Amino acid sequence: MTNSEFLRETCYVNGKWIDAADTRIEVNNPATGEIIGSVPRFGRAETASAIASAATAFTKWSALPAAARADYCLRFAQALMDHQDALGRLLTIEMGKPLAEAKGEVAYAASFFKWFGEEARRVYGDLIPSPWTDKRIVVSKMPVGVVGSITPWNFPTAMIARKAAAAMAAGCTIVCKPASQTPFSALAYGVIADEIGLPPGVLSVITGSAAQIADEMCENPKLRKITFTGSTEIGKQLASKASAHMKRVSMELGGNAPFIVFEDADLDKAVQGALASKYRNSGQTCVCANRFYVQSSVYDAFAEKLVTAVKAMKIGDGLEDGIEQGPLIDEPAVTKVEEHIADATGKGAKLVLGGKRHDKGLTFFEPTILTGVTNDMAVAKEETFGPLAPLFSFETEDEVLGYANDTEYGLACYFYTNDLGRAWRVMEGLEYGIVGVNEGIISTEVAPFGGVKDSGMGREGSKYGLEDYLDVKYALMGGLGK
Ligand code: SIN
Repeated sequence: MTNSEFLRETCYVNGKWIDAADTRIEVNNPATGEIIGSVPRFGRAETASAIASAATAFTKWSALPAAARADYCLRFAQALMDHQDALGRLLTIEMGKPLAEAKGEVAYAASFFKWFGEEARRVYGDLIPSPWTDKRIVVSKMPVGVVGSITPWNFPTAMIARKAAAAMAAGCTIVCKPASQTPFSALAYGVIADEIGLPPGVLSVITGSAAQIADEMCENPKLRKITFTGSTEIGKQLASKASAHMKRVSMELGGNAPFIVFEDADLDKAVQGALASKYRNSGQTCVCANRFYVQSSVYDAFAEKLVTAVKAMKIGDGLEDGIEQGPLIDEPAVTKVEEHIADATGKGAKLVLGGKRHDKGLTFFEPTILTGVTNDMAVAKEETFGPLAPLFSFETEDEVLGYANDTEYGLACYFYTNDLGRAWRVMEGLEYGIVGVNEGIISTEVAPFGGVKDSGMGREGSKYGLEDYLDVKYALMGGLGK
């Protein structure tokens, strides 16, 4: 694996592979504990230089016809798919998710380049009916400028794609800072950029000190927008720093997704949805179900079916055949899951499956289910970000809507019902950016992904995702009278 053409240990800036750092960051494989390699620890100066090259590239890139930028995006998509297997393996090795999921993520990433490549040609403006006979009101869209992206370790390939593809399609250039746990999937974008002949400076990837790189992005006047996926805590800090320089921000932050099962639901489908929503990526997604609310009359039946399904999951190194859950990313991730289990069981919840580190060692953790969970437990308020399904019980529709909305977060939520009226009522009553109705997986490049309240601002994917990289320009064309 280490001789993969995609494993690059230098940064990609202005179309060149560079290593100007004094110190390096080691990256390990969470499934084996082995060191895979290391990457440069860049700071403010190197970030400023990457931004400067992005600013230079912006002049020509933004002036290209949309069709030309579309073409680069479509070639990017194709190249990702051409290397799906190698990129998927690299992702599994540095992040731990099962290979099938990793390859799925590469395809998901490619779908953003394809979608935004197609959309690049449809950035329309307006001609607004003028109140004057000798003046016209023209509205056009212009790219916001150089973008700084900061992305997490849980989707190291796809989270860059949905920012970079939208930025590039809109005519922006972008400097990407991936998470230090998973930099190689991001640096692989440099290999793809070289392969498709992307002009230098359109997309750069730098690794290093998150604080220093973020500070430079927030303060450097050449950079006009920050797009971030990660925790609400860091998102608020970034938004606050960026606001001091009046920069645009897109923030895709934490969640605390409720997953509601009504008594009229198809329980088998609800269990399938629960499995997908909860245990995808070992529960390490911003949109994964965090709180299961099950109507009391079907509580035991649902719990029993869920336990049976989860018990059958195969745990291990994501490169092995048939693995459905890999290790968690690191020790703090395991500690958080353990804390939530201890808190809940200490307050009376019952452990019905799992509950401890897996005997495979390292950061492997048993998929866990708790019953008898109540709203005073930490799992009701905080995102676990791990393979823990806590089952709460409820009686009425109004009651569960209250529980579901009683959180500062508002990213994704899910519910299962076969009652059409209830489906509409509950969908409309949930204060969330994304609602899965009888569906446990909601992600697609064609739909707007993003949250309300402390889950952030802005949308990724879809036509709304492109708008986030465009500014509106109004021109009053006067002097048209004879
Ligand atoms: C995330 O966890 O932030 C992204 C999940 C997805 O796109 O499905």
